Amino acid sequence: MSHYLVTGAAGFIGSHLCEALLARGHSVAGLDAFIPYYPRAAKEKNLAGLRAQPRFAFHEADLRTADLAALVAGSEAVFHLAAMPGLMKSWTDFQLYETCNISGTQRLLEAARAARIRQFIHISTSSVYGKEATQGEDAPLQPFSPYGITKLAAEQLCRAYAANFGLPFTILRYFSVYGPRQRPDMGYHKLINDLARGEVFTVFGDGEQTRSNTYVGDAVAAALLAAEKREVALGETFNIGGGEIVTLNRVIGMLEELTGCKARLERQPARPGDQRHTAANTEKARRVLGYNPATSLAAGLQAQVVWQRASG
Ligand SMILES: NC(=O)c1ccc[n+]([C@@H]2O[C@H](COP(=O)([O-])OP(=O)(O)OC[C@H]3O[C@@H](n4cnc5c(N)ncnc54)[C@H](O)[C@@H]3O)[C@@H](O)[C@H]2O)c1
Repeated sequence: MSHYLVTGAAGFIGSHLCEALLARGHSVAGLDAFIPYYPRAAKEKNLAGLRAQPRFAFHEADLRTADLAALVAGSEAVFHLAAMPGLMKSWTDFQLYETCNISGTQRLLEAARAARIRQFIHISTSSVYGKEATQGEDAPLQPFSPYGITKLAAEQLCRAYAANFGLPFTILRYFSVYGPRQRPDMGYHKLINDLARGEVFTVFGDGEQTRSNTYVGDAVAAALLAAEKREVALGETFNIGGGEIVTLNRVIGMLEELTGCKARLERQPARPGDQRHTAANTEKARRVLGYNPATSLAAGLQAQVVWQRASG
């Protein structure tokens, strides 16, 4: 059994990853600074089950300022999920994105290098590709939002640490993750709440934008595979997406059916930075890691609806 450090452990995806590592018998140090992008109370709920587990230690620490050496020491690998996510606020709160996503990553890489860890698993995003993200990992990288630019800079830092100091990294580019604990700023979370409350949901653009929705359990499975198949994953970048590509209009219809509620829609123009089409080409992850997304969109949306109903 191994010991891992997970950054962003109180977040949507990070909390699920910590649970999966513990379920496999590993011990986990979870780090998070509770950046108030969304309320701390939601993140405390994400952590509640973890805090009760003896093989989990939580550290409230900010990557930009904390002494990271002791936290990284003794870890088999670092899973780096901590970041400022989401596109829209990256136009107005750029400094927060710049410092958390770039400086925070650089400080963590420096600590990982000094500790000579065996693998740095960096969680990136389809947003590094830009307005369209429909090709393989070698497609041009033309981020269309400040968020995407900071996430691309973080990727490039991993590569610079690898090229200069031999830092062993793996990069996973997630495509639109959904499921229980989805962040409250994300579209499906808002839509499910609006359906339940009879409130108006705003569709930005014509609703024909496509997404490769990735169920959170599949995103976590990919991270575990990257660690388990370390030898073939080192130095590599993988797209991680779900198997189905759907339009927002189609998801609205599916959620109407699942909730039994009719959506009240308001249409607005697409927002600056919005991606038009994402269609994860996961051929490399399937071939090299054996990644195989297991949850259908219908089943995953159902799980998110059940979770949102239970959490009020
Ligand atoms: N959710 C998605 O659809 C999606 C898609 C692609 C990539 N990603 C990436 O996955 C990762 C996790 O995203 P999420 O949706 O779970 O977001 P989240 O906001 O729920 O989790 C991120 C966590 O990181 C923490 N954090 C941020 N800056 C920090 C700092 N300086 N020090 C310590 N902790 C800090 C936050 O407090 C938060 O709890 C991010 O790197 C994001 O870019 C997410």
